[in-house]
Amino acid sequence: MLLKERLEAIIPGWRDRQRTLAKQHGDVVIDQVHMRQILGGMRGVKSLVTDISYVDPYEGIRFRGHTIPEVLEKLPKPSEDAMPYVGGLYWLLLVGDFPTEEEALSIEAEWKKRNQVPQHVFDLLKGFPSDTHPMTLFAAAVLALQPESVFAKRYKEGMKKTEYWEPMLEDALNLTAKLPVIAAFIYRLKYKGGDFIAPDPDLDWGANFAHMMGVENLKYRDLSRLYFILHSDHESGNVSAHTTYLVSSALSDIYYSFSAAMDGLAGPLHGLANQNCLYWLQGVMNAFGGVPTHEQMRKYAWDTLNSGQVIPGYGHAVLRRTDPRYKAQYEFALKHMPEFDLFQTAKVAYEVIPDVLKEHGKAKNPWPNVDALSGTLQQYYGVTESDFYTVMFGVGRALGVTANTVWARALGHPIERPKSVTTAMLEEEIKG
Ligand SMILES: CC(C)(COP(=O)(O)OP(=O)(O)OC[C@H]1O[C@@H](n2cnc3c(N)ncnc32)[C@H](O)[C@@H]1OP(=O)(O)O)[C@@H](O)C(=O)NCCC(=O)NCCS
Repeated sequence: MLLKERLEAIIPGWRDRQRTLAKQHGDVVIDQVHMRQILGGMRGVKSLVTDISYVDPYEGIRFRGHTIPEVLEKLPKPSEDAMPYVGGLYWLLLVGDFPTEEEALSIEAEWKKRNQVPQHVFDLLKGFPSDTHPMTLFAAAVLALQPESVFAKRYKEGMKKTEYWEPMLEDALNLTAKLPVIAAFIYRLKYKGGDFIAPDPDLDWGANFAHMMGVENLKYRDLSRLYFILHSDHESGNVSAHTTYLVSSALSDIYYSFSAAMDGLAGPLHGLANQNCLYWLQGVMNAFGGVPTHEQMRKYAWDTLNSGQVIPGYGHAVLRRTDPRYKAQYEFALKHMPEFDLFQTAKVAYEVIPDVLKEHGKAKNPWPNVDALSGTLQQYYGVTESDFYTVMFGVGRALGVTANTVWARALGHPIERPKSVTTAMLEEEIKG
C-alpha cells in the first residue's frame, strides 16, 4: 500500500524528534496553569501535541501547515471546477504532504475495497426505536463494528510496541471507508422509509455519500466533499478529538475510541451548534415573512442579545477573524445558490451582525464561524432533517481524529493521566 510505505519511511524521523524532546529537554516549561483554567474547562492549557492541524487565531485552521484556501486549491480534484477528493485530504493529514493524483486515488481505492458494512450492523440499527436520535444510531453502529478491529486482534496475539501503528492504520482505513455508508443508511432508515441506496463503485468517497443519500442534484457531491474536508480536524483539544485521543491512549482500538468521540459530538455545546444557527436564520425569516432588510436583521439580532441569548454562528473561542471554513461555504453558496432565500438571509446576517456584536461589546470575535452556514447549504439540496447534520460532522471529523490515533501509536504516546486536586487545595494556594 502506497500510504503505508510512505508512513514507514517518515515515522522514524518523527520518533527521533519527539524522543529527543522528551529525553533531553523534559524539564523545559511550556505553559503555566492558572486557577481560572483549572476551573474553566482547561481552556487554552498547552498540553497536547499534534502535527496534523493547528488553529491560528487570525488565519483559522491549518491542515499540516496549510490554510483552507491552499488545501482546496492544491488537493487533486475529479475535474477543474470540482471540490477535491477527500482521499487526498486523508493523505495530507496522515503523511503531511500534498498527494499526487495517484496518491489521492490510492486512498479512494483503499476505501472502496473496505466499505462493506456487516449485515449485523444494519440489523442493529433497524432494531432501535424509530425516534432514536441519529447520533445514537451512528455511535452504536461504530461500536458494533468493534469485533472487526485488527488492532485488538493483533494486540491479543502479542506484537511489538513499534508495530502498533500498522493495525491502527488498517482499522482507521476500514472504519473511515464504512462511515459514509453507515451515515447514509441511517439517513434513509430514519427519513426515507428504509429505502437504501447501495454505494456506486465508480464514485469517490465524498460523492458516494451524496449518491447514497439520494440527493439528485450532482452539485451535492461537491458540497459533500467540501463539508467533510472542512469538518475533518480542528486541533486536538475539542471534545471529539480529545475523546478519541484519550480513549485510544488506553490502547483501546479505533472503534471504541471513535464511538466515544461521537457521544461527545452529540452534545449541544459541540456538534449541535449548526442546528441552532439554522433555527435562528429560519426564525428571522418567519418573523419578517421572508428575507429581512438590514434594519429588520439588526432589530432581530438586538432582540436576541437583549433577551440574554447568544447569536448562533458568530464568535469563536480561538479565532479572531471570519472563519475560513465559513468563507469557503459562503463562496460555494454564492456560486451555486445565490438566489436561495435562506442564503440571502445568512448574507444579510453577515453584513449586519459583526457590527451589532462590536457595538454590544462582549464577544471577543464578532465574525461568523463554521456553523453559521452549513445547515443553509444542506437545506438547499433538500437535506432538511437538521438532527442528521451532526452525523455528517462526525463522518468528516473521523478523518482528523483517526489520523491522529495512527500517529499517537506510531510515536508511542502513553496513556493520559492528568492530575486532579481538591477544592481545599486550590483554596490553600490563595493563602500563599
Ligand atoms: C463560540 C463561543 C461559544 C465562544 O465562546 P467564548 O470563547 O467564551 O467567547 P468570548 O470569549 O468571545 O465570550 C465573551 C462574552 O461574549 C459573549 N459572546 C460570544 N459570542 C457571542 C455571540 N455570538 N452572541 C452573543 N454573545 C456572545 C459570550 O457569551 C461571553 O459573554 P459573558 O462574558 O457574559 O459570558 C461563543 O462565541 C458563542 O456562544 N457563539 C455562539 C454559538 C456558536 O456559534 N457556537 C458554535 C461555535 S463553533
